Amino acid sequence: MLSQSVLTAMNDQIKYEFQAAFLYLSMSAYLESLELPGAAAAMRQQSDEEMDHAMKFFDYINDRGSRVTLQALEQPQTNFASPLAAFEAALGHEQKVTGLINAIYAAAVQEKDFASQQFLDWFVSEQVEEEKSASLRVARWKMAEGHPGAMLLLDHEMAEGSEGAGE
Ligand SMILES: [Fe+2]
Ligand SMILES: [Fe+2]
Repeated sequence: MLSQSVLTAMNDQIKYEFQAAFLYLSMSAYLESLELPGAAAAMRQQSDEEMDHAMKFFDYINDRGSRVTLQALEQPQTNFASPLAAFEAALGHEQKVTGLINAIYAAAVQEKDFASQQFLDWFVSEQVEEEKSASLRVARWKMAEGHPGAMLLLDHEMAEGSEGAGE
């Protein structure tokens, strides 16, 4: 069984991962509305990955003989000032999630819960990749802003998953 502090933090994390999935799906809908199908597809895939993250916590809590408690989600942001503004919001969300993962890790260290630390190691590395790819998107869409040709090129790259940012 998980300690109460680790269990509470992990149940909260299921919500944050689904909240991220919801936000990225909302961004995908926004990008579709701008006729940027490549960027929309990339954010939809990002949304799927966040659901996988939520389910990793779901399975792990069950594996440890503890109880999953799902929580209500908030309505995600539905409108953005520009694609750049959406990617900046995505980066902000990833930075917040990194802080949350670190806080769960700290709770697992405090409880001398070594299995949870090992489980969380994957998320620590994943957040490095997530922040890296989100930062690269922000930097590149900043360069392209106001230049339709450059924006179409970036959209095309995102369709192919060839942004060079890794997964
Ligand atoms: Fe995640
Ligand atoms: Fe993420």
